[in-house]
Amino acid sequence: MDPKQTSKPSKNGFPHFMLKEIYEQPEAVRQTIEACVNSAGHIALPACRISDDDVKKLRKIEIAASGTSRHAGLAGEFMIERMTCIPVEVDFASQYCYRDPIVEPGELAVFISQSGTTVDTVAALHVARDKGSKTLAICNVADTPLTRDADARLLTYAGIETSIAATKSFTTQLTALFLLAAHIARVRGSSDAALDAALRLVRKLPDEIERALNQNDRCLALARKFSQYESFLFLGRDIDYPIALEGALKLKEVSYIHAEGYPTGEMKHGPSAMIDETVPVVVLAMRDQSNPASRLRFEKTLSNIRELSERGTPVIAVVSEGDRETITITPHVIEVPDVPVLLQPIVEVVPLQLFAYHVAVLKGRDVDAPRHLSKSVVVE
Ligand code: F6R
Repeated sequence: MDPKQTSKPSKNGFPHFMLKEIYEQPEAVRQTIEACVNSAGHIALPACRISDDDVKKLRKIEIAASGTSRHAGLAGEFMIERMTCIPVEVDFASQYCYRDPIVEPGELAVFISQSGTTVDTVAALHVARDKGSKTLAICNVADTPLTRDADARLLTYAGIETSIAATKSFTTQLTALFLLAAHIARVRGSSDAALDAALRLVRKLPDEIERALNQNDRCLALARKFSQYESFLFLGRDIDYPIALEGALKLKEVSYIHAEGYPTGEMKHGPSAMIDETVPVVVLAMRDQSNPASRLRFEKTLSNIRELSERGTPVIAVVSEGDRETITITPHVIEVPDVPVLLQPIVEVVPLQLFAYHVAVLKGRDVDAPRHLSKSVVVE
């Protein structure tokens, strides 16, 4: 796939670009991974022109982006911190510009954008650069204001994304962030064995996304059941929280239904008051059996689902294949492949994209071009 994106897009038999692009995710992720693997089969970021010396001196990473791309950054924060132990902060690109950020030596500022033309993200890059930070653009288009002005770039290979709602650009951004984290970890001394293991896991992702896509009929059935509701809450813990934000954003932008994303642990700090049988709650409830912290989070989430169900709230739960517990509490379960925690966002977002798509179609919305939105926000 050529990141220069010169060919004319076609729906290729799909009713909408959004659905076509959701189905292109296995290939888009595969291309993004292969571009980051060298001939020896190790993770290498060829166009990421930040010297190993600079990587070794890194003390902090600041990520700024907008919309869906910021959600990728929020998930990237977990990936980078856990794999490299470097502290990461994530901001809205628009906020970063206004807050006169403090940039210290050893800081890398990362800007994530599908288009590379989002005015706030480009402006944020200029602020970081003018304050002396090293800058990296993660972008789906090779030659853009963002990629031109950054010190280094890491391309995603989603290909042309025509639907206004971002889907395949998001999963490729998540993949790129995981690979970036692995690259930094390698330069800072992580063992080759650990990184080769990470690469083996990431290389399974296209097949795992394919299996998540097999839930399309289930997502359609749930969309039929829930499309008439007027408000939704999306919940996720830890690295699933950014995906709760993304699930809510997808639903609101294509269906115009009110939806909010929240950290699961914050539910009792306010949102509980508005939840009743009229507000379905979508809960990200995956668990990685090999990871004790993930198992503990799952138990807590299960108890939240139980409490909601007892209150009469309809709960849709995205769970890991093989989970036999959640189904005993709510019938509205969507199973996705069981993957390690840091890769969960890439598979669990797929049914949320499909759910939002089907709800929008059922409501007769202009799925590929929702009202008041444009593909790239080039005016503040
Ligand atoms: C949501 C969506 C927007 C973009 C945002 C940033 O589906 O597409 O929220 O993510 O406008 O755009 P880029 O990534 O081009 O900077």
